[in-house]
Amino acid sequence: MKIAIGSDHAGYELKEYLKKTLKERGYDFIDVGTDTEASVDYTDFGLKVAKLVSEKAVDRGVLVCGTGGGMSITANKVKGVRAILVQDLYVAMQSRKHLDTNILVLGGRVIGKGLAEEIMKTWFDTPFEGGRHQGRIDKIMEWEDTHLN
Ligand code: RB5
Repeated sequence: MKIAIGSDHAGYELKEYLKKTLKERGYDFIDVGTDTEASVDYTDFGLKVAKLVSEKAVDRGVLVCGTGGGMSITANKVKGVRAILVQDLYVAMQSRKHLDTNILVLGGRVIGKGLAEEIMKTWFDTPFEGGRHQGRIDKIMEWEDTHLN
């Protein structure tokens, strides 16, 4: 599985921590930055990861900002992206089973490293169930096809 990960300054520390888990799991991942704790715009890094997912250059994305809100808003503007802000294991699991989410968003100033790591593992390990859930996603994609460039 190919993955893109990115953050702003507020998510930088958690992004670096999560990269260790990605490495341990042998995932092929691209880090689009940011590379320091100097202030940057979450928008720039959210769009980088979202575009890679949208273009199918990667299978999934992980984004971290302070609350997760900015990254969620940004990523979900991009066609084909289903980004989910997650703070607990139930949503991590259900968002994969029912929504086939392709970007995981975490709030670096909201949750601890241990919970974030377990959320990410659960999110990567849970498959999409398809069936009736696919039809609902198809409706989103039809809307995108007719309303987005
Ligand atoms: C940066 O200060 C902060 O606004 C950003 O990381 C994020 O929380 C936005 O949703």
